[in-house]
Amino acid sequence: MTTDTCIEFKDVVAGYKDFMILNNLSFQAKRGTITLLLGPNGAGKSTVLKTLFGLLKPRQGDILLDGVSVAGASQKALLAHGIAFVPQGRNLFGQLSVYENLELGGITLGMKTTHERIPEVLEFFPRVKQRLHSPAAALSGGEQKQLEIGRALLLRPKVILIDEPSIGLSPMVVADVFKLLRKLADQGTTVLMVEQNVKSALKISDEAIALESGRLVLQKPASELLADPHIERLFLGGAHTTAAPAAATV
Ligand SMILES: Nc1ncnc2c1ncn2[C@@H]1O[C@H](COP(=O)(O)OP(=O)(O)OP(=O)(O)O)[C@@H](O)[C@H]1O
Ligand SMILES: [Mg+2]
Repeated sequence: MTTDTCIEFKDVVAGYKDFMILNNLSFQAKRGTITLLLGPNGAGKSTVLKTLFGLLKPRQGDILLDGVSVAGASQKALLAHGIAFVPQGRNLFGQLSVYENLELGGITLGMKTTHERIPEVLEFFPRVKQRLHSPAAALSGGEQKQLEIGRALLLRPKVILIDEPSIGLSPMVVADVFKLLRKLADQGTTVLMVEQNVKSALKISDEAIALESGRLVLQKPASELLADPHIERLFLGGAHTTAAPAAATV
């Protein structure tokens, strides 16, 4: 580990009941960078984020944040460590207003601090700011995702875990979300992102790692991977080889 390592997985084994999903997974992510987590469906990408956020406990191995072991730490301890998670899908309280959803995001901060920080977060999302008193469910899909990210930013996290933020969003909104993540990383936040929109995501990422069946099969600078003509294979598996598939012999 170097001093600028923020996230470190060391031989992590984790899974659900009898199913082991992460198989001796090791990787590092540097502070103030965006690491893109790639791989086919079911490879274990969301499981990596859930394990890092303490929703799953590693059976073996260790997870370090800024050099401190957090494997098996409580949710409270992880939040105190400055880690925020924006999961896949929709995660708002639809009947509650935009403002109330933000208030709930700051529950660990206390209301005074939360109310001070809400205007600061809303500066990133002018469209959400105009709808503060609408039920969250009445926002467009893109606005809802922005609200979720805003809710995570209330914590001024050191680390943001974000799972497939582009799903259901128009290309322009995706571009805004990616731009914001880049800005946060440039200000020192460490971002670990899962995203199937590989080319656009690589453009704003520093490093890319790919999983297959819970194993690391590739770690490369994002710029290098962007230049790889076989990039699509990262969805399908076989990410570790950049050679063209062998022609079928008859
Ligand atoms: N709560 C759960 N209980 C049991 N198995 C699960 C659970 N969540 C995920 N799995 C299994 O773990 C494996 C990895 O799932 P995970 O959600 O991490 O994949 P992923 O790479 O994020 O896939 P996707 O691209 O489809 O989101 C899959 O085989 C999945 O069926
Ligand atoms: Mg997933």
